Amino acid sequence: MNHPLLAKIYDTVLAPTERFGVRDQRRRLMDGLTGRIVEIGAGTGLNVPLYPATAGEIHAIEPDQHMVERLVEKAADSPVPLYLYRGDAHDLPFSDGVFDAAIITFALCTIPQPVRALDEVHRVVRPGGMLRFLEHVRSPSARTARWQDRINPMWGKVSGGCRLNQPTVEILETTHWEVDEVWQSGGGFVAAGQAFRT
Ligand SMILES: C[S@@+](CC[C@H](N)C(=O)[O-])C[C@H]1O[C@@H](n2cnc3c(N)ncnc32)[C@H](O)[C@@H]1O
Repeated sequence: MNHPLLAKIYDTVLAPTERFGVRDQRRRLMDGLTGRIVEIGAGTGLNVPLYPATAGEIHAIEPDQHMVERLVEKAADSPVPLYLYRGDAHDLPFSDGVFDAAIITFALCTIPQPVRALDEVHRVVRPGGMLRFLEHVRSPSARTARWQDRINPMWGKVSGGCRLNQPTVEILETTHWEVDEVWQSGGGFVAAGQAFRT
């Protein structure tokens, strides 16, 4: 679960994609969120400076100690009160229904049991609350998906277990979350959206 090298190079490797649109997608994803929010698999904290000023407070959870160290460095950039936790999405250290919303960006692809994590997030968000997600997903193009399948084993080894070919929106649809909207970009390789806590 600890990936010191990945934590060290993560922001640098992602910098070009962040500059060419992903940063804007992150900002749009969180736009207008209010109340108490939980971020799952916060990584090095690329979302931290973009947290919406409308939020009351953010609680960010991340299991990898090396990622947490980067997250701590970015905490000062948060525009809203931020609480950091080293912990696991499969077993969240929060009571039922204490959050108004949850944010997950590029983490459901890496969390070993995404359904279990989504069930846990469902538990800690209040009824009527929402989940905003931004993930790379299995391509709707059969040709691209085959390419994703081919490189997935190698990709997982260098990316801390990320599954490049995971159909994350379809997985979300099997859970108790009610998917409200999905926006696709990058030729269907990236999906963002929101789902409501039933
Ligand atoms: C690709 S990174 C994404 C980081 C960040 N959310 C972002 O948008 O840049 C995936 C993150 O999921 C985290 N992760 C892996 N397993 C997890 C788990 N069981 N619970 C919570 N987070 C987990 C990893 O440690 C890593 O920080």
